[in-house]
Amino acid sequence: MLSQPRSFKAASGVPLQELVDDGLALIVQTLVVDEASVDPDPLTQLSSWLESARSAGEPMPEAMAVATATIDGRPSSRMVLLRGIDHRGLVFYTDRESDKGRDLKTNPFAAALFHWFLPLHRQVRVSGAVEEVDDDQSDAYWRSRPLGARLSAVISHQSEVVAGRAVLEQRMAELAVALPLETGPPRPDRWGGYRIRPEVVELWEEGADRLHDRLRYKSQFGRWTIERLSP
Ligand SMILES: Cc1cc2nc3c(=O)[nH]c(=O)nc-3n(C[C@H](O)[C@H](O)[C@H](O)COP(=O)(O)O)c2cc1C
Repeated sequence: MLSQPRSFKAASGVPLQELVDDGLALIVQTLVVDEASVDPDPLTQLSSWLESARSAGEPMPEAMAVATATIDGRPSSRMVLLRGIDHRGLVFYTDRESDKGRDLKTNPFAAALFHWFLPLHRQVRVSGAVEEVDDDQSDAYWRSRPLGARLSAVISHQSEVVAGRAVLEQRMAELAVALPLETGPPRPDRWGGYRIRPEVVELWEEGADRLHDRLRYKSQFGRWTIERLSP
C-alpha cells in the first residue's frame, strides 16, 4: 500500500555521525505514506503494516499499549497482545476484573498504540469505544491457550495485591492436582475478550528531517475520511 521509495534517510544531508548521536543512524529506505496509496479501510491498512513488521523481523508486532481511564479521567496504560483484527475492530483478552477491566466497566473507551522501530519506524494509534467479545469467541480463544496459561489465569486475580510469589505457585500446584488435565479448567467468568471499535486511526511513519508522515482516518456516518496532519 505504499508508493515508491523516495530516498535514503542518510541522504537527507545530515552527516551520519550526527544521526548516530541523535539515535537515528538508520540507513533504510523511507517510503512515502500517501493519502492516495493507503487502503481506504484503516484496519486493512493496519493488518498490512502488521504483516510488514513481521516480515521485517519484528519479534512481536502485535504487542500494543492499551490506555484506559477511570470514570474521573485518570489514565493508565499497559501492554497487551492483539489477538484478532477484522472489520469490527481490535480484540485482546484479559481479566475483566483487573484494573483495566474496572476502567472499561465504567468508561468503555480505549486507545491502542503500536510501535515498530527498526527498520520501519512506524506507529499506529487507534481509539474508540470498547465492547466485550461474546462468550463463544472468548471460549474458543481460551481453549487455544496453553494449559499453564489457563491455570495461571484461573488462580491469579489480575491486578490484586498478593502476599508473595509462593502464594501463586502454591495455588497453581493445587489446581493442577485437582483438575482433570485432559479438559483443563473452564474459562472463568471474569476472563474474556474486549474489542476496540476504532473511531480514529492514525498512521505515522518517520520521515527525513523529522518531516514525518501522519495520516488520520476518522469514521463519519459509517465511512472513513483521511486527512494529513502536520508532524
Ligand atoms: C508484551 C506484553 C504482552 C502482554 N499481553 C497481555 C495480554 O494480552 N493480556 C493481559 O491481560 N495482560 C497482558 N500483559 C500484561 C499487562 O501488561 C498487564 O500487566 C496486565 O494486563 C495488568 O494490567 P492492569 O493492572 O492495568 O489491568 C502483557 C504484558 C506484556 C509486556
